[in-house]
Amino acid sequence: MPLWQGRFGKALDKATNDFNSSISTDSRMFREDISGSVAHAAMLAKQGIITPEDGAAIVAELGRIRADIESGSLLIDPNAEDIHTFVEYELTRRLGDAGKRLHTGRSRNDQVTVDLRLYLRSQIDEVTAQLHSLRTALKEKAAEYPGAIMPGYTHLQRAQPITLERHLGAYCAMFLRDIDRLNDARKRMNYSPLGSGALAGTTYPIDRTNTAAALGFIGAMKNTLDGVADRDYCVELAAALSLVMVHLSRLSEELILWCSWEFRFAELDDAFSTGSSIMPQKKNPDIPELVRGKSGRVFGDLMGLLTMLKGLPLAYNKDMQEDKDAVFDAFDTVKLCLTTYIPMVETMRFLPENMRAAAAGGFINATDCADYLVGKGLPFRDAYKATGELVAFCIRTGRTLETLPLDEYQAVCALFDEGVFEAIRMENCVARRGM
Ligand code: ARG
Repeated sequence: MPLWQGRFGKALDKATNDFNSSISTDSRMFREDISGSVAHAAMLAKQGIITPEDGAAIVAELGRIRADIESGSLLIDPNAEDIHTFVEYELTRRLGDAGKRLHTGRSRNDQVTVDLRLYLRSQIDEVTAQLHSLRTALKEKAAEYPGAIMPGYTHLQRAQPITLERHLGAYCAMFLRDIDRLNDARKRMNYSPLGSGALAGTTYPIDRTNTAAALGFIGAMKNTLDGVADRDYCVELAAALSLVMVHLSRLSEELILWCSWEFRFAELDDAFSTGSSIMPQKKNPDIPELVRGKSGRVFGDLMGLLTMLKGLPLAYNKDMQEDKDAVFDAFDTVKLCLTTYIPMVETMRFLPENMRAAAAGGFINATDCADYLVGKGLPFRDAYKATGELVAFCIRTGRTLETLPLDEYQAVCALFDEGVFEAIRMENCVARRGM
């Protein structure tokens, strides 16, 4: 039964009812819808807008409805227009007139965005907890290989030696920024739109500060049109989650490379790898690949939200019902990815000998060789050129800087002495940079 009877002479066309309904998406907010209504009803009674008896009956019955939905004894009607309609209808079915008084001084337009803010607040807390766990997993994994040296890359070409700890630490820094970004968005969205009504506020002497405080908001939103029309928080969260996916996707790309026979820097545990239906030798990194692939969904959610909002006149428009599918999908996807990713990182192993061997090739200590000459008084550009000549000579003759005899060094630059071999030793290159 819709909430908007009286004006209409006919029931809504069945297919149109299904099209218009958002219950399949928003029923997950039943707890938040009930919390919002409890705060609203208590405030109405406190302000003398409804009687204390009606207020108490509504609050108590809403508690029972919540318990009944949780226990499964009350099934959410899939034909209801949305979760707000369903809860109010059920309350009225149980209480009669008292139930019909709940919606005094309120509209679904302020109600839906209260529910969504409350629901997303808890989603943020869940994702940030997961991101903290992932950071811990990465830190602990690095600590299993103290001082392990690997090639650092630019342009995917071996560049300078680094430690595994520094490499994984880069991802810890990214995920820390993600946590900050989500918490920052949480602060900005943590204001209550209740009291905005449909768009123009209400004529009842409601207390917006009271409901805001009861629901854990920092305060009430100032402008009532903004209160019902603002979905910035959905966009900010989808953007912050998109960056989480960018970071997960970049890490995934590296794990996929590192697990290849070409690199052999790392191996995923069998419990987090898959095989091939035809090639018996295969062990595939499906999990990081799938995470890399799923990043596109979250970017799509962000684009969908921006596009849905950009042409909307104030205040509420039904287009906005699409907000929940997008922002829920973004949260669901990130949480799903992290749930598998954290134990995958915890159980993977690195192959430090292979990383060390790769670091020994590719002349990644050439910068240190040039720096050594700078230490002998040569200007950096000259030192760079001399080292470049040595590298070219090594490539031509199949040698490395470590195995090149001192007289070959001195043939290029007389400033070289025995000290150069200590200067270009990989461990020293890394230690000098404080890694
Ligand atoms: N189901 C709607 C939504 O998700 C609730 C708000 C409906 N308001 C309205 N005036 N039709 O946005």
